[in-house]
Amino acid sequence: MGKKVCVVTGSSSGIGAATARLYAGKGWNVVINYSRDPAPAEAVAAQCEALGAEVLLVKADVAQDADCRRLASEVEARFGRADVLVNNAGTTKFVDLKNLDGLEAEDFHKIYSVNVIGAYQMTRALAPLLRQHLGSGVVNVSSVASIMGRGSSLAYMASKGALNAMTVGLARALAPHVRVNAIAPGLVETPWLQEGLGAEGYQRGVDWYKGRAALEAVITPEDVAETAWYLGASAAKTTGEVMLVDAGLRINKV
Ligand SMILES: NC(=O)c1ccc[n+]([C@@H]2O[C@H](COP(=O)([O-])OP(=O)(O)OC[C@H]3O[C@@H](n4cnc5c(N)ncnc54)[C@H](OP(=O)(O)O)[C@@H]3O)[C@@H](O)[C@H]2O)c1
Repeated sequence: MGKKVCVVTGSSSGIGAATARLYAGKGWNVVINYSRDPAPAEAVAAQCEALGAEVLLVKADVAQDADCRRLASEVEARFGRADVLVNNAGTTKFVDLKNLDGLEAEDFHKIYSVNVIGAYQMTRALAPLLRQHLGSGVVNVSSVASIMGRGSSLAYMASKGALNAMTVGLARALAPHVRVNAIAPGLVETPWLQEGLGAEGYQRGVDWYKGRAALEAVITPEDVAETAWYLGASAAKTTGEVMLVDAGLRINKV
């Protein structure tokens, strides 16, 4: 029935791109998704092809249910199967924690529409394909912000907390065929924070993180991809788990 297939939302950059490359390198076919600029997505697709994967490239905004359903139909038409879904696409607004006037209801709606509703819609759209194989997996990319009360904004932290709760509920809903887990990364070296904080703010953030985390390190996209591989393709008896990849930020340096 062909190679296994991993669908990674938001895989034109950062964590999603590293995850797609890792699955491709392990002999899987991959689905690359983006919502805006096709050029970086095409570059990631070429890298995955060079690793031996067949690649389906789909422009789709996960906040739009019709896009999620179209993506799932394209996966079915092209590969006839889906074994792992990595709900990685995410968005935020950078607002200082103490600036309560900096966030409006609309900001919450926008962030939730991608980080929470997008993951729900993608999971629902792909569930019929995922259910066809016992042990298939959904991996939601959350954030350590969901449990630390630190991060780009209150709306972002709340959205990732909601994603953690949804992970546990979906793990029940899709059992026994599909396992559903989440990864909560700390500061990851991707364009996300570099663009959001600017060069100086980003460097301050990195220095703060290394000074605080037990392992005195920040996270690479490849570190998160490794965990997305473990939870998606392996971890046969793990479901409903939120796994930290934070270099020990939560436990802190003594
Ligand atoms: N970087 C960190 O420190 C960090 C820490 C913890 C958790 N995370 C989480 O990790 C995930 C990936 O972040 P990253 O750092 O790798 O960011 P990134 O490098 O900025 O990549 C974000 C990806 O998501 C895509 N995307 C954004 N909105 C989308 C939408 N509505 N539909 C489909 N794709 C969409 C982007 O493509 P387009 O631009 O084409 O839409 C891009 O491919 C996010 O969920 C984020 O919350 C990041």
